[in-house]
Amino acid sequence: MEFLALVLALAAIVLVLGGTLRTGVPPMPTSSGVRACMFDLAKDVAPATVFELGAGWGGLATALARRWPEAKVVAVEVSPLPWAVCRLRQALFGPANLEVRFADALKTDLRAADLCVCFLCPPAMAKLAPYLRDALAPGTYVLSNAFALPGWVPLREARVADIHRTAVYLYRRDAA
Ligand SMILES: C[S@@+](CC[C@H](N)C(=O)[O-])C[C@H]1O[C@@H](n2cnc3c(N)ncnc32)[C@H](O)[C@@H]1O
Repeated sequence: MEFLALVLALAAIVLVLGGTLRTGVPPMPTSSGVRACMFDLAKDVAPATVFELGAGWGGLATALARRWPEAKVVAVEVSPLPWAVCRLRQALFGPANLEVRFADALKTDLRAADLCVCFLCPPAMAKLAPYLRDALAPGTYVLSNAFALPGWVPLREARVADIHRTAVYLYRRDAA
């Protein structure tokens, strides 16, 4: 029994490390304080479709689906264990307006998105910035925890009153 627990724990560590090495982004969740600041920054956004690009364990995805209960929220995650946990918690606890997909955000069709949400890291944001410029329809909002989108000018930004003074950014894909 102890041996089985050890094997399972090691398998979980290998899966999380493998996913992190592949994407360069660990599955670290957005804190509740940052989440509140992000929602405040986007308070006048009323999306019909939200994509979360890199949903991790699903905490922020669930909060997004509860924040906008009329919207369809699509949580995209490419790391197997966080994706499985996110998928399982949605199956067990909902909400029904949350769909969880095992997919690479940089290969996802985002034309239906009104709002994209992300918490990645600077190298991943550098890849995401040009991808979003091509993939998003004009007028689509992008809400980012901590890291700016290189080459994009934020519509609004705020600092969370936490020890890191975490920045959050709201962008809008322009019509150009
Ligand atoms: C820092 S975590 C954030 C999790 C969640 N969004 C939150 O804020 O609580 C970033 C997640 O993005 C995932 N990720 C990174 N690059 C990705 C990509 N190209 N496609 C899908 N998921 C990606 C990672 O596997 C990781 O789970």
